[in-house]
Amino acid sequence: MELELKHPLAFVPTMGALHAGHQSLITIAKSYAPNVLVSVFVNPLQFENPDDLAQYPRDLDGDAVKAESAGATFVWSPTIEEIYPAQPSIINAGELGNLFEGVHRFGHFDGVLTVVKRLFDLINPQFAVFGEKDFQQFFLIKKMVKELALPIEIIQAPIVREADGLAMSSRNIRLTSDSRTISLVLSRALESAAQEIDINKARKVLHEVLRAEPGFTIDYAEIIDENDFTLATEATLSPRAIIAGWINDLRLIDNMQMNCGGTR
Ligand code: PAJ
Repeated sequence: MELELKHPLAFVPTMGALHAGHQSLITIAKSYAPNVLVSVFVNPLQFENPDDLAQYPRDLDGDAVKAESAGATFVWSPTIEEIYPAQPSIINAGELGNLFEGVHRFGHFDGVLTVVKRLFDLINPQFAVFGEKDFQQFFLIKKMVKELALPIEIIQAPIVREADGLAMSSRNIRLTSDSRTISLVLSRALESAAQEIDINKARKVLHEVLRAEPGFTIDYAEIIDENDFTLATEATLSPRAIIAGWINDLRLIDNMQMNCGGTR
């Protein structure tokens, strides 16, 4: 597919299987620039598990309709050869790349940063929109853009949830009806922790709610300082709870700003 670039341009990178969460990014992008390019590329570099890559949902026709109805002016689904014509030089996500989401997903964030940088180089957008659903990814991309002094404004888009609280994700279609019920524990734990103004209490509540659901296996549940991704203390002004865990063989993540910070 020939790449069509009109500037000023706001860019929304995706891996497809678009849902209302992706569409909200496109709507936000449209408020920054008249031209909105959505890329659909399932990036093999960021999948450490070949089964996960093979099972990743794909629906390009449906994606084009959804992207355009949300305001995209161009939907681009590059081939592997277009993105990686040669062995790419991998961008290292550093220490944080090996923490939280990076612990069990070795090289995942290196793969994300490498593809995002490559996409930025090909597109040269003035704006790029990322969802805080993948907060660690958002943080690392912002850090990369700052460190490389790229002339791109990174826009943070809030999490879009189902009416009952589950954060939208392309993987949710793999939830059975039992797992779908169990999955509500993530937003329930975050909402409960957000009621607390004491950080130790917030951490305790987060773990208590998650542990009370036997169908959910915690991978991590932490409160971090969203400005530097260190563990939050009572002095932290911008705490955010981040959680990940398993429901059978499906891994879900979620996060939320907390109210236990100094100024909130
Ligand atoms: P993907 O999982 O398709 O997500 C594309 C963008 O949509 C990301 O910025 C993600 O945070 C955002 N998103 C997903 N679910 C959301 C929700 N419920 N609410 C708001 N935003 C949501 O993230 C990737 O693809 C890839 O790693 C990518 C950045 C495209 C690089 O390959």
